[in-house]
Amino acid sequence: MRTLRNLFAVRGRQLPVPVSPGDPVAEARGLRVSLGGRPVLDSIDLTAHAGEVLALVGPNGAGKSTLLAALAADLPPEDGEVRVCGRPVTDWSAAELALRRAVLPQSAALSFPFPVQDVVRMGRAPWAGTDRADEDDPAVRTAMAATEVTRFAARPFSALSGGERARVALARVLAQRAPLLLLDEPTAALDLRHQELVLRICREQAAAGDAVVVVLHDLGLAAAYADRAAVLHDGRIAVAGPPGEVFTSALLSGVYRQPVEVFPHPRTGVPLVVPERAS
Ligand SMILES: Nc1ncnc2c1ncn2[C@@H]1O[C@H](COP(=O)(O)OP(=O)(O)OP(=O)(O)O)[C@@H](O)[C@H]1O
Ligand SMILES: [Mg+2]
Repeated sequence: MRTLRNLFAVRGRQLPVPVSPGDPVAEARGLRVSLGGRPVLDSIDLTAHAGEVLALVGPNGAGKSTLLAALAADLPPEDGEVRVCGRPVTDWSAAELALRRAVLPQSAALSFPFPVQDVVRMGRAPWAGTDRADEDDPAVRTAMAATEVTRFAARPFSALSGGERARVALARVLAQRAPLLLLDEPTAALDLRHQELVLRICREQAAAGDAVVVVLHDLGLAAAYADRAAVLHDGRIAVAGPPGEVFTSALLSGVYRQPVEVFPHPRTGVPLVVPERAS
């Protein structure tokens, strides 16, 4: 009889075990990262839980992409620790990490000459040789439908517009079906409809049990869709918590060095963040 351990191990790889809502999926403790000899992140303590959307916001250069890369184990910390699915990232092999976290890099300027459907299918590579390779076709189909790229399936990725490519890149990440999604500015190139679509997808993934960490510049989107937001400032977390509590005009005006006003939406009460402008 297959033991539980064997059930979740294929060719030396430990397959992910299901997570429960509220479980820590990614954790940074006392994280410090330096790049080019310069400290870029310091004293970062942050946890992304199963079932939540966690937004990372903050000005250009604050360290959002660096933090995402550290959570993805793509950047080694100078000090502190990153844990994914309960274990230090250094304990997982690259193949095991690929089963646990899917990463959408900032401005995926990849210029694959491959058809869109093949690009999305690349997300399934980590599951090759496992029982869950059976899910390859439905995972690709579902991810393409969710991101509204099905009609581009046979087109070369390199022949798409910027926003269309961004949605295909997200489809690849969704097809991977990892319990931790690390998305760096997935809405940056998107029109209004597709920004909303992508944030609804983030919520659906969280509702299905994933931990979703998403870098956003649009504070209104973060306020509307994230359970919690971490505001980064000069490599540190200035504040973290529900957007309705942490998005104050004083805090945001200071961090962004731009006076902003924060209003409750007249119908939903969700904070609206707008720069202060002369009338
Ligand atoms: N390879 C590198 N060498 C040196 N410094 C770097 C390197 N990569 C990034 N930095 C610096 O680290 C800081 C944080 O960069 P990061 O890309 O994390 O910012 P960000 O918050 O994602 O900004 P943006 O909103 O512009 O994407 C910046 O000051 C940046 O100039
Ligand atoms: Mg960035």
